Amino acid sequence: MNFILRRLLSGGTAKHSARAPCLLYSSVAPDMRERTLIAVKPDGVQRRLVGEIIKRFEQRGFKLVGIKMLQGSEGILAEHYHDLRRKPFYPALIRYMTSGPVVAMVWEGHNVVRSSRFMVGETDSSLAKPGTVRGDFSVHISRNVIHASDSVEVAEREISLWFHSAELMNWETSDHSDLYQV
Ligand code: PPS
Repeated sequence: MNFILRRLLSGGTAKHSARAPCLLYSSVAPDMRERTLIAVKPDGVQRRLVGEIIKRFEQRGFKLVGIKMLQGSEGILAEHYHDLRRKPFYPALIRYMTSGPVVAMVWEGHNVVRSSRFMVGETDSSLAKPGTVRGDFSVHISRNVIHASDSVEVAEREISLWFHSAELMNWETSDHSDLYQV
């Protein structure tokens, strides 16, 4: 239960009661539990960009709840990229994604899916803006460094594909009120 809601339920102080409508409004806390799958692709791992990418997500205020390094099997990648199976680039994409280790991560926070797509930048690296991961570190779509789920529904599916629930941590940061109005 968030701080404001707890205060309202416990009656609050006179000062707080006088401002109840405002408090009620702010008790609608932003959804801080949204999660997304971020994967540093084999080219990103080879180029030692893992730390840089983690730094950007931490710095933005998102919370790391799962991380592992693995060499993706053809099975997991075929499922991950199932919708692309008829694309001409599909065989090359699977070859590339199975060519070396990837670092899969789950990040949590308010609107993390949408925010991380902006942080990652356009899929086609030549269109990615400077300041985005791809805009700073990639020149071609075939080696675009990072994957980020493109919707909340897709994120849920991808997280359950790459992680067992026991591999994800439920933990609280102590700086909530610095990051959100709760
Ligand atoms: S599409 O065609 O619009 O459905 O594809 P798109 O959304 O642009 O990209 C989906 C994922 O395919 C990857 N991709 C490629 N990989 C290797 N080579 C080529 N030519 C290529 N074209 C697209 C792209 O990086 C996306 O992967 P993720 O992991 O989702 O970023």
